[in-house]
Amino acid sequence: MTLQLSLFCVKTRAVTVEDLAMKVLVVGSGGREHAVCTAFSKSSRVNHIFCASGNAGIAEIAECIDIKPTEIDRLAAFARTGKVDLTFVGGETSLALGIADEFNAKGLPIIGPGSAAARLESSKSFAKAFMMKHGVPTATYVVAASATMAIRSLEEGEMGDESTPLVVKADGLAAGKGVVIAANRQDAVDAITKMSDLVGAEAAEKIVLEEFLSGNEVSLMMFADGKDFALMPPTRDHKRIGEGDTGPNTGGMGTITDSSLLSDSEIREITDTMIRPTLLGCIDEGMPFRGVLFLGLMMTSSGPRLLEYNVRFGDPETQAILIRLDTDLVDICEAMIRGTLYETPIYWQEGSSACVVLASRGYPGRPSTGDIINGIDDARMIDGVEVFHAGTARDVDGQVRTAGGRVLGVTATGPDIDAALKKAYAAAEKISFEGMQYRRDIGKTAGAR
Ligand code: AMP
Ligand code: GLY
Repeated sequence: MTLQLSLFCVKTRAVTVEDLAMKVLVVGSGGREHAVCTAFSKSSRVNHIFCASGNAGIAEIAECIDIKPTEIDRLAAFARTGKVDLTFVGGETSLALGIADEFNAKGLPIIGPGSAAARLESSKSFAKAFMMKHGVPTATYVVAASATMAIRSLEEGEMGDESTPLVVKADGLAAGKGVVIAANRQDAVDAITKMSDLVGAEAAEKIVLEEFLSGNEVSLMMFADGKDFALMPPTRDHKRIGEGDTGPNTGGMGTITDSSLLSDSEIREITDTMIRPTLLGCIDEGMPFRGVLFLGLMMTSSGPRLLEYNVRFGDPETQAILIRLDTDLVDICEAMIRGTLYETPIYWQEGSSACVVLASRGYPGRPSTGDIINGIDDARMIDGVEVFHAGTARDVDGQVRTAGGRVLGVTATGPDIDAALKKAYAAAEKISFEGMQYRRDIGKTAGAR
């Protein structure tokens, strides 16, 4: 078996005439899905894009349909009656609910893993057990069957003494809210006690307690076809709301792609110690991974450690990544479905990219919505800039208004990270809405390694 490492080069594939009238369906409604729809809109093979359920930006390039990502049967029925040739799933909820199993059973082509492999993201205890079984380096941990058992483990000293920092994680899907860094045992006990209120009783039924790791965080995503894989450029997300990485966690306030994030030897080490064992482990366990696999990494002084798997594109990582994709996304999807990634060259624009998220007042708490957004067209006029919509909606008068916490992802490419950031921030300054907030320090630490 060959596991392919496909990095940075520049080319595309010839197409045949019968390929040129495809209908694709994208599931989701955020900035990630706008970036995916935009990549499909550039394909010479796609002539119609549906999106369930989309936003104001997506509606400019796709037909938005009113079906929720959780309505798997309705999505499958739509794909069948609408003669959809390819479905691309944005978020983890549909995957955990088994959308790929349902579509595959009905012979409907879809990108995303089945619910068995989706557990790598939907259950942190499953993911940690998988990492241990397949020798993937990660933080040491304890799984507790309940909050009471988690507190007992701490009191018995399983995670160190009273002053040891540690990380408390809800086992289930929690939209980024289920992880708390605790400075000491008392903070951990407080976090465990509040977890169920924070993320719901189901997600917090089991608790994972983890060793606190320090280092630089990097995300590495890949396309995978069940046996082979092709890496995307490494990215860095900025999860905290405040500059200097302060304040509560968010879904992500900005991302960069830049070659300084991982060296070639680090990529080789991650490939050998994490990617091959993971993909081979998935085959061994009868759940070959087909779709986008995301590794959340901590680069510690003892080497890379895997913090988490995601089984889909990151948001807002995707915005900064797909803006650099120079290969038709349909060709890559077809290769993932056919198992031919090893013979599919994937090319990326040279240089770097940056995505700056513009968020509503109140985010990541309750965001204000309904505010008029100005300046999007002016921002888009800047060469190399794309403005991806997340929480936006068009009102009856055609005016674009805020409709969620993360509103827009202002994304730009450049020959290096400084140029990409300069363009993204120049574009962000052209946009305004009541209460708009964004971090001015995205990518500040990019070259600091
Ligand atoms: P996760 O959803 O597991 O990636 O966790 C969300 C965020 O929490 C990560 O991006 C890290 O910033 C932080 N985090 C998670 N696990 C650890 C750990 N073991 N040590 C330090 N920080 C962590
Ligand atoms: N930006 C992190 C995620 O998509 O999970």
